[in-house]
Amino acid sequence: MTPDSIALLYHLDTLQAQSAATLAEKLDTSPQKIRALIKDIEAVGIDVAHKSKAGYCLLRPFDRLDLDAWQKAAQAHGAQLSKTQSNAGHRTILVPLSKNKQPLSLINVATIDSTSNELMRRLPHTDIHALALATEWQTAGRGRHGQPWYAFPGGSLMFSLGWRFTQDSHFLSGLPMAVSLAIANTLEREGFANNIRLKWPNDIVFHFQKLGGVLVELNNDIPDATYAVIGVGLNLYFPRQAREPIARAVTDLYNISKTVPDRNALLAAILIEIVRTLTIYAREGFAAFSAPWQERHAYHQRAVCLLLPDQKIIKGFVAGIDDDGALILSDSPGDKGKGARYTAGEISLYPA
Ligand code: BTN
Repeated sequence: MTPDSIALLYHLDTLQAQSAATLAEKLDTSPQKIRALIKDIEAVGIDVAHKSKAGYCLLRPFDRLDLDAWQKAAQAHGAQLSKTQSNAGHRTILVPLSKNKQPLSLINVATIDSTSNELMRRLPHTDIHALALATEWQTAGRGRHGQPWYAFPGGSLMFSLGWRFTQDSHFLSGLPMAVSLAIANTLEREGFANNIRLKWPNDIVFHFQKLGGVLVELNNDIPDATYAVIGVGLNLYFPRQAREPIARAVTDLYNISKTVPDRNALLAAILIEIVRTLTIYAREGFAAFSAPWQERHAYHQRAVCLLLPDQKIIKGFVAGIDDDGALILSDSPGDKGKGARYTAGEISLYPA
């Protein structure tokens, strides 16, 4: 997908078909280019109806990212618009906290290599603290362990949020977990399901199938600060054919709740909850979240295999999560909070 194919998607309707010539005029291009862009759109799995005379229309509405809709939804959650810092491509709201208000800005872009790459690129010359960047499409979206991150246009949330901490990276080891908890809490509060769970270290799962993930990257180049770029990917509507390249079981909110989530509303609710979480984390660290995190852990008290970064495999029972976010594995079931600590790796149920 390119900025041009996203622009065409924004102009396609579900009810009214439009000819290549009409669309070409709207986008200031040629009908041939429109036909090529339609092919690009279809190549990612979006259904386009071709009506011989009338032209093209979409079979499902495309729920575009939209700053006005996002702002309205944020205001419905109690945020205020900060008039001084908003303009056409950039919106700043004030998120109410228990004692004060935290500004939060959002920028939407049609396509980008990776929202996290972009915030990291901006870091040397822009203060990315409390700046979120969301996109319709990533050409090089990244997951954990250098894996690609797959998404479906209009059916995914992909964003990154920059945050400045005064603490060092050791203090931030549980940050991705606190963020995944914030997302699971929001999804439940917004009524998608009452058993959204987590998978150590930072996956959001439903019935052991992956619904979303968090990737946190840190930068210490600026004196006395650690900047975190918090990347979030969440599946809202992810059709089966678009999931083919993914090796593991994945799911989406549509499958869970049978409703198509409003992307802008969900983005507002999740960002506000993440901002609240980050302000608590900055004061109290992961210790403030370890108990509720463990309560949501789908693998708690289960027999698991842990694949360590050096490819060693450890078998054990999940006995808990400690105050730094480390996984505690014990040799026998029922051990609570006692066992060996692991700070990195990938778990799976054992036997599978
Ligand atoms: C995971 O592997 O579970 C983490 C996935 C994180 C994906 C998001 S999408 C927005 C941001 N940009 C990226 O390139 N990755 C993160």
